[in-house]
Amino acid sequence: MSKKRVLTGVTTTGIPHLGNYVGAIRPAIRAARQENTESYLFLADYHGIIKCHDPKLIHESTQAVAATWLACGLDPERTTFYRQSDIPEILELNWILTCITAKGLMNRAHAYKAAVQDNLDKGQEDQDHQIEMGLYSYPILMTADILMFKANDVPVGRDQIQHVEMARDIAGRFNHRFKELFVLPEAKIDEGVEILVGLDGRKMSKSYGNTIPLFESEKKLQKSVNKIVTNLKEPGEPKQPDESPLFEIYKAFSTAQETAEFTQMLADGLAWGEAKKLLGAKLNAELAPQRERYETLMANPADIEDILQAGAHKARAEARVLLDQVREAVGISRLK
Ligand code: ADP
Ligand code: TRP
Repeated sequence: MSKKRVLTGVTTTGIPHLGNYVGAIRPAIRAARQENTESYLFLADYHGIIKCHDPKLIHESTQAVAATWLACGLDPERTTFYRQSDIPEILELNWILTCITAKGLMNRAHAYKAAVQDNLDKGQEDQDHQIEMGLYSYPILMTADILMFKANDVPVGRDQIQHVEMARDIAGRFNHRFKELFVLPEAKIDEGVEILVGLDGRKMSKSYGNTIPLFESEKKLQKSVNKIVTNLKEPGEPKQPDESPLFEIYKAFSTAQETAEFTQMLADGLAWGEAKKLLGAKLNAELAPQRERYETLMANPADIEDILQAGAHKARAEARVLLDQVREAVGISRLK
């Protein structure tokens, strides 16, 4: 039986946060450890430059994201671990896929629609004001990432489901029009995990500056947790899980039984301050050993680079084979 392929990437636009961890990094590493899987995990730096035009941040983030994957237990012997920009084949595939993707499909992509809506809300006459082509066609690049390595499962947070569906759509279109070369991917969502909310009440996201960074010191971590929004209910007053985003974070780091116990404690009037202490301790218990590994890796960037280069070598050899087949299928090959 052929092995199942798991693939996912994280954009290099900031320091990884709790949302990235529970939505993508932790499930991907768990999946990668299963027998009968082959995993492809990568740093999406060409996706990074879509949203972030700060070269220093992109560069620093690349190191932080790589160190995070490794600190969280990615085994580079078992997983093909690489940086997107080290695999130029992905960009060649991106162009070929661009040529078969309907513009209407891209018009429907959430990220583009949100940017348009933002312009309309601001009363901009041109709905495309300051929207770049990178943002518009970003689902195609993501499709190239996924199809290049014939991924079956793509573990992502819920906000990315639409993009994986688009990848399926585009793969189907290519297979139908030219040749059955692509595997149709499926998004894999960790059912126990909701999209975590950030410190300002919006989705926790590197782009919003509202995150709880994954590997800040224990003290800073507790400080960030203390900033999570709660309501004005006093200690002793019954509280509901949906009254503060801290509940979903707690849940993402707990077993079902622990979550049930925490729900009961809130209902029994646990003070928000106490709830935050419990959450801080819970996070620290899971993250402390990984934080130590992270700090060692961050102090040794050349070691990370060596690992990435070895990963790129493996990934490129494989990408080349499929890309040659794809090029041939569309009529691009040497004259004989
Ligand atoms: P960000 O929005 O912080 O830039 P990315 O777009 O790089 O995050 O997302 C990397 C992965 O982390 C994706 O699979 C995404 O779905 C997941 N993810 C991002 N933010 C969250 C969140 N707040 N809760 C759960 N998963 C998230
Ligand atoms: N676009 C994804 C995000 O912002 C990151 C990403 C890029 C990705 N390419 C991918 C995720 C391929 C899964 C598969 O979260």
